[in-house]
Amino acid sequence: MAHGEYTFETKLLHNKHKIDPVTGAVSVPIQHASTFHQSDFDQFGKYDYGRSLNPTREALEDVIAELEGGIKGFAFSSGMAAISTAFLLLSAGDHIVITEDVYGGTFRMVTEVLTRLGIEHTFVDMTNLEEVKQAIQPNTKAFYVETPSNPLMKVTDIQAISNIAKETGALTFVDNTFLTPSYQRPLELGADVVLHSATKFLSGHSDVVAGLAVVNDEDLAKRLGFLQNGFGAILGVQDAWLVLRGIKTLHVRLEQSQKSALKLAEFCDAHPLVEKVHYPGLESHPQYQIQKAQAAGPGAVLSFELANEDALRTFLAHVKIPVFAVSLGAVESILSYPAKMSHAAMPQAEREKRGITNSLVRLSVGLENPDDLINDFSQAFKQVEQSQLVLQQGETS
Ligand SMILES: Cc1ncc(COP(=O)(O)O)c(C=O)c1O
Repeated sequence: MAHGEYTFETKLLHNKHKIDPVTGAVSVPIQHASTFHQSDFDQFGKYDYGRSLNPTREALEDVIAELEGGIKGFAFSSGMAAISTAFLLLSAGDHIVITEDVYGGTFRMVTEVLTRLGIEHTFVDMTNLEEVKQAIQPNTKAFYVETPSNPLMKVTDIQAISNIAKETGALTFVDNTFLTPSYQRPLELGADVVLHSATKFLSGHSDVVAGLAVVNDEDLAKRLGFLQNGFGAILGVQDAWLVLRGIKTLHVRLEQSQKSALKLAEFCDAHPLVEKVHYPGLESHPQYQIQKAQAAGPGAVLSFELANEDALRTFLAHVKIPVFAVSLGAVESILSYPAKMSHAAMPQAEREKRGITNSLVRLSVGLENPDDLINDFSQAFKQVEQSQLVLQQGETS
């Protein structure tokens, strides 16, 4: 059986970098050298300088390319470095159609940097294909999709957007951070560039900042490789090794976290203090069917809204198990406050327009027993109830 025929779980472990051909080591060696001796004056070897190519980084790039079903992967120093470098495929005068509730750092890059470089954009609700079509301009060169989106978990039909992009003669970029190739492979749905914050599920342990890009076209691979080397925001070798290690357990981590996420989403959905739950694993989610059709699972991230900011503050002050932090996709559960964390770069008016309210919290479910998380949430919700009672008594007395 050729390793290309293995199932995804097996491919995570059995790939061309499983065994080091020199020593037989079963872990990819970390090659620190920044430069490589050239034994021939005219003919340089495959490796010449660490920014251009490094064997440890290359192993990660090969692994992610295979997992995403692409021909070439690229590793960057952060998710934003991957995204920003991919945007350099565009030129002054070009236009991007982009998901409106995109990650805050991407929003900042598009609105405050690309505009300065003469690259325009239109934000759209990507779940509305008519709105997407209406946003197309003669100079539209890229469609930028994040699905499920951050933090409202809206689901975009990747195939439909890729088809529109092809008709327009534009590229489709998909940020696949939330689902990873374990659950969603955008290139197979017609996308051109897949992007990752590998800081999240791919590495999985809150101990590395990294970004990845994958393409499945030779010309795009050449152009992105040129930009990776030219811009130079490459991933360091220790970090490349950490991502490689994290990827080996990606599927089991995601499966477990996803199971727990569904339990937590159902618990929150039934709780009287929770106004709204955003999770594409709930049948009530508006794009539940699209999610089911294009991905193998809804993932392990959800968000929910309480009645107001005060209620949320009380909840966060009393919840004990999840860390309260920026980021997601780790072994430990993480609660984040998008208004002040992932989407702080978005002005309040823009956030509110998109529904990213001050009472919205995002939960990335880790590997704790979900019943412990539910008990923890229950006791924190009780505290919210009590504080509301105290407030009501104060108003009536
Ligand atoms: C969906 C998404 N894309 C991109 C990024 C940026 O990645 P990084 O923080 O690794 O630069 C993040 C970070 O939170 C993210 O959530």
